[in-house]
Amino acid sequence: MTGDEPLEDSVELRTDGGERSRRSRSSSELRSDGGAAGADDVALDPWGSSSVSDYRNLFEEFGIEEFEKILPEVPNPHYLLRRGVIFGHRDYRPVAEAMRNDEPFAALSGFMPTGDPHIGHKLVFDEIIWHQQQGADAYGLIADLEAHAARGLTWDEIDEHSRNYLLSLLALGFDPEEGDLYRQSTNREVQDLAFELGAEANFSEFEAIYGFDGETDVSHMQSVVTQMADILYPQLEEPKPTVIPVGPDQDPHVRLARDLAERMRFFKVSKAYASFELDDEERELVAEYYERLDPAEFDDDALRCVHVAEELERTPLEELDVSPDTLGSVVSKLSEAGKEPVRPRTRFFNRRATDDAFEALIDAVDGEKRVYENHVDAFDLDLEAAESLAKTIEVENGGYGFVAPSSIYHRFMTGLTGGKMSSSIEASHISLLDDPQEGYDKVKSATTGGRETAEKQRELGGRADECPVYELYAYLLAGDDDEFAKEVYDECVGGERLCGGCKEQAAELMRDFLADHQEKREEVEDLLEQADIELESPRRG
Ligand code: TRP
Ligand code: SF4
Repeated sequence: MTGDEPLEDSVELRTDGGERSRRSRSSSELRSDGGAAGADDVALDPWGSSSVSDYRNLFEEFGIEEFEKILPEVPNPHYLLRRGVIFGHRDYRPVAEAMRNDEPFAALSGFMPTGDPHIGHKLVFDEIIWHQQQGADAYGLIADLEAHAARGLTWDEIDEHSRNYLLSLLALGFDPEEGDLYRQSTNREVQDLAFELGAEANFSEFEAIYGFDGETDVSHMQSVVTQMADILYPQLEEPKPTVIPVGPDQDPHVRLARDLAERMRFFKVSKAYASFELDDEERELVAEYYERLDPAEFDDDALRCVHVAEELERTPLEELDVSPDTLGSVVSKLSEAGKEPVRPRTRFFNRRATDDAFEALIDAVDGEKRVYENHVDAFDLDLEAAESLAKTIEVENGGYGFVAPSSIYHRFMTGLTGGKMSSSIEASHISLLDDPQEGYDKVKSATTGGRETAEKQRELGGRADECPVYELYAYLLAGDDDEFAKEVYDECVGGERLCGGCKEQAAELMRDFLADHQEKREEVEDLLEQADIELESPRRG
C-alpha cells in the first residue's frame, strides 16, 4: 500500500541541515499536509515534498511506534486505524486510556490553506472527527501564518482556501458547537503561548531540526513556535492527553512539541540514589551497582557512595556500557560524596518553579523528605505518586502542567498516475472540489496494479498492494465496510477481478462520494457562518 515502486531500505528523515527553508518557499510541489505524497525516497521534511518508501525505518530509526500493537486498546477503532492506514504513533496509550475511561482528552490538527482540500486531507479530517465522536475535545485550525510565512501565499488566497477546508471538515461531520475552530493569526492565546514556548527554544535547535540557516526568515521561525503553541493549546484549560493526527512529515514538529512540553514543566521527577544529581546514564550505572552490591559486605553494613566509586574503578571499562567521560564523572561525584549512604529516593528537581510553588511542593511531600537548594528528595513516595503531586502543585501555582502530546501518522496516498500524489499534478489527485464527473474520469484513467493481459491477471492475480485504485477503496471508497474492502482485495489477488470493471466500480463510487460531499458542503454553509472563526483575514499583502 505504500506505492507502486519497490520498497527501498533507506529512509532519510530530513531533520538535518540543508537549505530547507529557502527551498520550501519557492517549492511548487505539494507538501504532505494532508497526506498526499507517494513513494519515492523519503524526505520527512515539514516544508519539503515528503514521501515515505519504507515505513519500517520510521519505527527503527525514529522511534515511531507501530499502531497495530496498540489497536486492541482502542475502543471502536475507525476503519483507518483498523486497516493500517494509520500505521504509527507516538505515545498514543494515554489517549486510548482516556477514551476507555471517559476521561478528558483532546484531538487537534492543522491545515495549511495552500490549495484545495483533497482526499489526502480527508484522512486527517476523518481522524479529528472520529476522535470527537469518541469524546475528544476536538480542534481544527487553519495554519494561515505558516501558509503566509513558509509558502508566501497572500491573505486573499489564504481566506479562499481556508473556507474550503472548513466547509469540507464540517461536511464530513465535525461538530463546531462541541469542537473548536480557529486560525492561527487571530488566536491571541495561541500567540501568547507561542511567545512563552519560544523562550525555551533557540536557533541552534531549529537549525538542527529543520535545517534553518542564516537565510531563513524570522516569520518562518515564528510559524514554528506557533505550531508548537497549536499543539499544546488544548491543554491551556487543563492538562490532558492530546493526539495530533498528521502525516509522518510532521514528526519533527511533534518531537519538538513533546520536548517543549517537558521543558515548560516546573519540576522534573526522577529516581535518585544520593543527594547529588546524576544524568540518565550515570543514574543507570549507580542503580545497577545498588542492585548488585550487598551492604553486608561493607564495614558498617551500609553501602556508601565511596564504595560504589571504588567498585566502578575496579571494573575494566570494557565491562561497563558507558563512555570514559561518563565513568569519570560518576566516579568523581561518588567519591566526593564519600561516606554518604546510597539510598533510593524520588527526586523533584526544580526546573522553573516560582518560589511559592517550590515551597508548596516541599510542604506537600508526605513522609521522610530532604530539602536541598534546588530539589526535594522524598523517601516514601513512588514515582507515579510523585509525578501526580508535581503536576497538581504546578497547576495550582499557575503553571501549565503540560502532558507530552501524542501523535498518530497516516500513510501517504499514492498518486493516481503512479508516483506520489501531488496537487501540482492535476491527474494524480482528487480534490474534494473536483466535479464528480472529473473525479470519475480521473479514477478511470488511473494506473493499476493489474497485469498486462486479462489472461495473466486471471492466472496470477492482480497486485492490490501496489495499486492506487485499491488504495482508494481501502482509504475512502469502502468506508466502514471492511468486508467490502477485503472482497475487493481477495478478488483482485485471486484473479477474479479485472481492472476495467474494478475501476468502473471505483469511479462510480468516487462520483457518488464527491456529489454527496459537495451537497453536504452546501448544507453546512450556515453552520460555518455561525461558527466561531474569522473567515476574513484582517491582514493585507
Ligand atoms: N504544519 C502543518 C502543515 O504543514 C500545519 C499545522 C499547523 C499543524 N499547526 C499544526 C498540524 C498543529 C498539526 C498540529 O500542514
Ligand atoms: Fe487494482 Fe482493481 Fe486491478 Fe486489482 S483489479 S489491480 S485492485 S484496479
